[in-house]
Amino acid sequence: MRPSLYIALCLLSAPSSEATLISRTASRIHHAATKRSARLAKDIRSAFSNVLIDQPIVGPDTGNRVYCVANPADAQNNTATIPADSGNPVIVSSIVSGSSLRRPTATSTSGGSPSPTPTSPWTLVETREGASFFDGWDFWSLADPTNGDVTFLDMQDAQSNGLIGVNSAGNVIMKVETTAKVSGNRKSIRIQSKNNYTGGLVIMDAVHMPAGCGTWPAFWSNGPNWPAGGEIDIIEGVNDYTNNQATLHTNPGCGLASSDSKTLSISGTLVSGTDCSVTSTSNQGCGVRSNSNSTYGAGFNSIGGGVYAMQWDTSGIAVFFFPRSSIPADIQAQAPQPSTWGLAMARWPAIDCDPFKFFYQHVAIFDTTLCGDWAGGVWSSSGLPGQAQSCAALTGYATCQDFVQNNGSAFQEAYWEVVSYKRYQSNST
Ligand SMILES: *[C@@H]1O[C@H](CO)[C@@H](O)[C@H](O)[C@H]1NC(C)=O
Ligand SMILES: *[C@@H]1O[C@H](CO)[C@@H](O)[C@H](O)[C@H]1NC(C)=O
Ligand SMILES: *[C@@H]1O[C@H](CO)[C@@H](O)[C@H](O)[C@H]1NC(C)=O
Ligand SMILES: *[C@@H]1O[C@H](CO)[C@@H](O)[C@H](O)[C@H]1NC(C)=O
Repeated sequence: MRPSLYIALCLLSAPSSEATLISRTASRIHHAATKRSARLAKDIRSAFSNVLIDQPIVGPDTGNRVYCVANPADAQNNTATIPADSGNPVIVSSIVSGSSLRRPTATSTSGGSPSPTPTSPWTLVETREGASFFDGWDFWSLADPTNGDVTFLDMQDAQSNGLIGVNSAGNVIMKVETTAKVSGNRKSIRIQSKNNYTGGLVIMDAVHMPAGCGTWPAFWSNGPNWPAGGEIDIIEGVNDYTNNQATLHTNPGCGLASSDSKTLSISGTLVSGTDCSVTSTSNQGCGVRSNSNSTYGAGFNSIGGGVYAMQWDTSGIAVFFFPRSSIPADIQAQAPQPSTWGLAMARWPAIDCDPFKFFYQHVAIFDTTLCGDWAGGVWSSSGLPGQAQSCAALTGYATCQDFVQNNGSAFQEAYWEVVSYKRYQSNST
């Protein structure tokens, strides 16, 4: 396995005259699904300016994700096109800031009124979609703290490399470089929302997500001073997995009352323990895996994706998934009523995990890394849904990195196609 000591230094450049320089350090551990003997690891996270965290971590077979952001939001208003390469089943138009591309009818909200009906306990406060999607996000362009074989591009480079754009359906595309062979890293994208939130209902509609051996995509959020501000992984997995895993990572004191799905009233299955604490769980957190093989990767893509909802309020935190064929009407009408949605895939009730003590000021994040601590770590493992054979066996490459460097065409499926990101606030707070 990878060395268990990672040190990340986030060197923050001098702020430009008007830009606010934000530095943030957070980290996360992703455990391999397969059980391995735990070994002690020391975790050192440090960042110049205002964050210094140094705490011992017990880690099995994973390293840390250390996230350091220096983002004076140097967004550019350049236009860009995404080449319609053979592996990408979309026709792509250029990004034009401020244009008014409509959503495809299949996912439109029939009228699209932003006002909730009186029956929804939630009010829409942020919508990111189409041509103006990227206005709401900062691009991470530092090294990948999760040790992936990627170079994250800033917005301008992402556009000039054709890795981001809007397709003819009006959906947002975020791709990975598919150059046949690279000697170092592949280019990829990682973005985080400019707005942060404490509590809320995040509803993300995607028709496609990165899939395949070597990939490790995620849609997630975290707060400041990790793990103090907490981490909520909404969509995450690696390689050929087809079943999504949602996970919380927190300071000590957050957990679940049971490991039984019936008792928890969830449709998913607890991956390991009930304790969400980073320090006392070998940094695994408390993860729940979906029992559906259309919730992640190729399985998700095969049904045209769907909608993920993350509900964070006084009742706790919950994650729902709705396949495209059964997106609730109240979501489509932008008047969500989670109480009518039935069983959540994952739920962490407030009684055993105070949702406003262990979680605050979250930024939403999309990223696609390659290999790294998790996808690389389980390259030779098999057995989880979608991964009947290991990626080593499937690809004939002994290491994830070798595959990533030598087979660019394998990453034509490694793209996000996002219809919309919407965030609601509770009317009762
Ligand atoms: C981009 O364009 C929008 C809309 O015209 C404008 O409000 C914004 O300030 C521009 N951003 C930059 C970085 O020029
Ligand atoms: C969250 O947003 C508020 C308001 O813009 C800001 O003051 C605060 O610093 C932000 N927190 C983080 C962790 O970015
Ligand atoms: C999901 O599981 C069903 C039933 O086992 C199987 O027929 C189908 O091929 C699986 N789909 C994927 C994407 O693995
Ligand atoms: C590249 O990867 C794809 C998908 O795994 C595979 O079908 C193809 O044979 C690989 N090509 C090379 C040259 O390894």
